[in-house]
Amino acid sequence: MATQPLAKYRKDYQSPTHLISDIDLTFDLHDNATIVTAVSKVNQAGDSDELWLDGEGLKLVSVSVNDTAWSEYAEEEGGLRLQSLPESFELVIVTEIDPEGNTALEGLYKSGGAFCTQCEAEGFRRITYYMDRPDVLAKFTTTVIADEKVYPFLLSNGNRIEEGKADDGRHWVKWQDPHPKPAYLFALVAGDFDVLRDSYKTQSGRDVALEIFVDKGNLDRAPHAMTSLINSMKWDEERFGLEYDLDIYMIVAVDFFNMGAMENKGLNIFNSKFVLANDQTATDTDYLGIEAVIGHEYFHNWTGNRVTCRDWFQLSLKEGLTVFRDQEFSSDLGSRAVNRINNVRIIRGPQFAEDASPMSHPIRPDKVIEMNNFYTLTVYEKGSEVIRMMHTLLGEEGFQAGMKLYFERHDGTAATCENFVSAMEDASGVDLTQFRLWYSQSGTPELTVTSEYHEATKQFSLTIKQVTPATQEQSEKQPLHIPFDIELYDSKGGVVGLTSNGEPVANVLNVTDAEQTFVFDDVAEKPVPSLLREFSAPVKLHYDYSDEELVFLMTHARNDFARWDAGQMLLAKYIRDNVTKVQSGENVSLSEQVIDAFRGALLDSSLEPAFIAEMLSLPSHNEVSGWYDIVDVDAVAKVLGGIKSILASELEDELSATYHSLKQVEYKIDHDSIGRRALRNTCLGFLAKTEQGNELVKAQYQHANNMTDTIAAMSAANQSQLACREDLMADYSDKWKHDGLVMDKWFNLQGSNPADNALEVIKESMNHPAFSLKNPNRTRNLIGSFLNQNPVNFHNRSGEGYKFAGEILQTLNDSNPQVASRLIDPLLKLAKYDDQRKSLIKAELEALQGLDNLAKDLFEKVSKALEA
Ligand code: TRP
Ligand code: ZN
Repeated sequence: MATQPLAKYRKDYQSPTHLISDIDLTFDLHDNATIVTAVSKVNQAGDSDELWLDGEGLKLVSVSVNDTAWSEYAEEEGGLRLQSLPESFELVIVTEIDPEGNTALEGLYKSGGAFCTQCEAEGFRRITYYMDRPDVLAKFTTTVIADEKVYPFLLSNGNRIEEGKADDGRHWVKWQDPHPKPAYLFALVAGDFDVLRDSYKTQSGRDVALEIFVDKGNLDRAPHAMTSLINSMKWDEERFGLEYDLDIYMIVAVDFFNMGAMENKGLNIFNSKFVLANDQTATDTDYLGIEAVIGHEYFHNWTGNRVTCRDWFQLSLKEGLTVFRDQEFSSDLGSRAVNRINNVRIIRGPQFAEDASPMSHPIRPDKVIEMNNFYTLTVYEKGSEVIRMMHTLLGEEGFQAGMKLYFERHDGTAATCENFVSAMEDASGVDLTQFRLWYSQSGTPELTVTSEYHEATKQFSLTIKQVTPATQEQSEKQPLHIPFDIELYDSKGGVVGLTSNGEPVANVLNVTDAEQTFVFDDVAEKPVPSLLREFSAPVKLHYDYSDEELVFLMTHARNDFARWDAGQMLLAKYIRDNVTKVQSGENVSLSEQVIDAFRGALLDSSLEPAFIAEMLSLPSHNEVSGWYDIVDVDAVAKVLGGIKSILASELEDELSATYHSLKQVEYKIDHDSIGRRALRNTCLGFLAKTEQGNELVKAQYQHANNMTDTIAAMSAANQSQLACREDLMADYSDKWKHDGLVMDKWFNLQGSNPADNALEVIKESMNHPAFSLKNPNRTRNLIGSFLNQNPVNFHNRSGEGYKFAGEILQTLNDSNPQVASRLIDPLLKLAKYDDQRKSLIKAELEALQGLDNLAKDLFEKVSKALEA
C-alpha cells in the first residue's frame, strides 16, 4: 500500500492567502513535450509571504518573480511552495507536460488527433503550478502555438484578439476572456474540424456567433446540437431573464471524454455522444440527451460561471441548480410528465441506491479524498430535487425573485450553498431554517403515512411519520422540512377541497416533525388520497393502498404523474408478492384487475402516447433491488421477466393493434413523433415475449428507416433472446464497425445480454476493432452495462463476473482512475448480497486495496466499502 491519501474537510475552509488578478498563458503545443508559460499578477491577501501552488505530474522548467530567477521555493508532493515573496509581484512559471501520454483525460490531453483540456475539478494543476481552487478568479489571456496544417483551429476562452505565423509552419492565436474565472473553467482546443456556424441575437440586441466543431466528415450530425443551443439561449431569456455575455459561443465535440460535457467559459467541450446525431446514427433518447446536455452546459454560464463555487464542497450550488434548470428546459419544450417520470426514476433507482451505499453523502459533502468522486447522483440529481422543493415552497414567482437577488448579491464571485438559500429566503420571506438540513444530512427519508376517516365528524386525517435511517458516515438524523403535496378524491373521482377549521388548506403540506397529523374537515365520504404528488420530496413513501385504490388513482388522478405513480405502486405490490412466491417455488402471477388496469392505460386515447409508454414500463432490476436489504438477484429477474410475459400474452391483441396503428412513414423528431415511436417500441418489447415476437422484431429491423426503430428491435431481440438476435447483431456490426459512437449501442447490448454465455461474448467483444479500454464511452457501454444492467450474469455465483470486473478495474486504475472509479460503484454495494456473493466481491475489493499504486479515486471508495 502506497502512502494514504489525505481527506479534506468542509469545515477547514480558509480564504486564499493570495489573489491572482490576471494570468497570461502561452502553450507551445507538442505531442509529448508541450511548454506552458504562465505569467500571473499576484497580490498578497493576508499576512503570509508564502504561496502554495497546486501542481501534479509537472516538469518544472523555471520560476521567476518580477523578472528575477527565483530560488526560494520547494517542490513538494502535490505542489510548489514559494517563499519570501514580495506583497505584489509578477510570477512567471514555465512547465513541461506530456499531452499524448495523458490517458487520464484530465488537464491537457489528446483526443484523436486534437489537443483538448479538461480542468474541472482539479485538472488545471496538471497544466501549470497555480492556485487551483474555485475561489481564485483571474482574467485569462491565452496564446496557443501549433503546427498550422495539423491544427488549423486554435481555440480558447473569450474573444480571439490576435493571430500570426511562427517558424517551421507553426501559427498562433491569442484569446482574451474579459470575465474573471477560476482555473477549472479554462479550456484550450487545437485541431482540425468541420464547423457548423450560426448566430443568435440576444434580447438586448447582442449578436453572438455560434460555432460547433466536430471531426471532419461529421457536419451532418451537428444541426440538432445547434438547434438545441439556440433553444437554450432563448429559454433562459424567457424563463429566467438571463442573457449570454460574450460575442462568441463555441462547442467542441471530442471522442475521448470522462464525463458528459464541460461548461468552460465560451468554449464548451463535449463528449461527442452529446453533440453528434442524425436519424441514421442516433436514437430519440440520444436526441433528447443532446438537448438536455447542451442546455445544461449553456445554463452553467450563469449558474456556475458568473456565480461560481467558493470551494468544491459547494458543488451542488452550481450542479443541483443547473440540473434543475435543464430539467425545466426539457419539460417546457417537451412533455412535463414524461420528464418528471424519468427524473424520478433516477432518484428512486440509482440515487436511493447511492444513499444506501458506503459512499452515501449529503448534497453538500463534508469530507472528500478525491473530488472527482463527488460528481454524483446525490450532488446532481438529489441536489436538483432540493432546488425543486424550494421552488415548490416559494412558487415560481418567489423562486425567480430569489434568483434575482442571488445574482444581485453574488454575480462575479464565488458563493456557497448557504448564500443561495439565504437569497431564496430573503426574497420570498419563506423561512428555510429547518429546510437547510437537506444540505447537511445524507440518506433517504422514509415517510410512513396512515389515514383515518370519521364518518360522524366528516373528518379525514393523515398521520405522517418520518425517519431517515442512519448512513455509514452519519448515524444521527433529524426530521427534515418536507413539502408533501396531496390531493383527495371522492368516489366519483371529484376533487375534495382541503379545509381545516373552516380555512382552506394548500395542497402542499409542511411536514416538519418526526410525527405529525393533518386533519381535514367537511369530507363527505372516505376519500382516496393521492400522496407525494409530483414526487414533491426525494423520500420513500409507505402507505397501505388497496389494489382498488391504486387502480382508481391510475384512472382518476388529475395529474399524469400521480397516475403513473399509482401504476408503479400497484406493480410494486405484485413484484414483492411474486418474489416471495418464486422463492417458495411458485409461479409468477398477476390478478385480472391489474391486467385490466394496464389494458385500460394502453387503450386510453386521452393520454399522450409517450406517457402511455411510461405507464407500461416496469421498474428496473436495480430499482427493485433497492426495496430489499438483501436482494435475491435471480428471483427479482425472474419476477420482472414473468410479469412482462404475462402482460404480453394477456394484452397481445391490444399491444399488436397499437403497434401497427403507430407506424410512421417518415422520421421526424418533434415530441409527438418521438412519443409515438416510444409507445410503439414499448409494445414491441412486450410482443417480443409472444409467439409472433421473432418475426415482428426481424421485420422491424429490416424496415427501419431510423436508429430508434433499429435499436428498439435489437434491444427487444436481446432482452427476449430471440432467434434473430445473432443475425441482427452481426448485420449492425458489419454496417457500423468503423464508427465507435454508433457501435456503443452494440457494445451496450453485448454488455447487458442476458444469455448464459454473455461474459464470454463480452470478452470477445473487447477484441472488436471499434473497442478500446482507453475510450471511456466504449468502456462504459460494454463493461459498465455488464456491471449495471446484467444482474444475473454479473452476480453469477461462480464469481466470474466479479473477477472480470476486478481485472478491468486494475487495468483502468493505471490508465484512467476517474473512469475506474465510476465503474466500481456496483461492487461497493456488496452488503446487499448473500454471504457467498458478498465474500466474492470482498475478495476483489481487497485485491484492489492491495495494489501499491492504487489511485486515490479508488482508494476512497474501496476503503469505505471494506470499512462497512
Ligand atoms: N461540470 C460538468 C457538468 O456538470 C461536469 C464535468 C465534466 C466534470 N467533465 C468533468 C466533472 C470531469 C469532473 C471531471 O456539466
Ligand atoms: Zn453541470
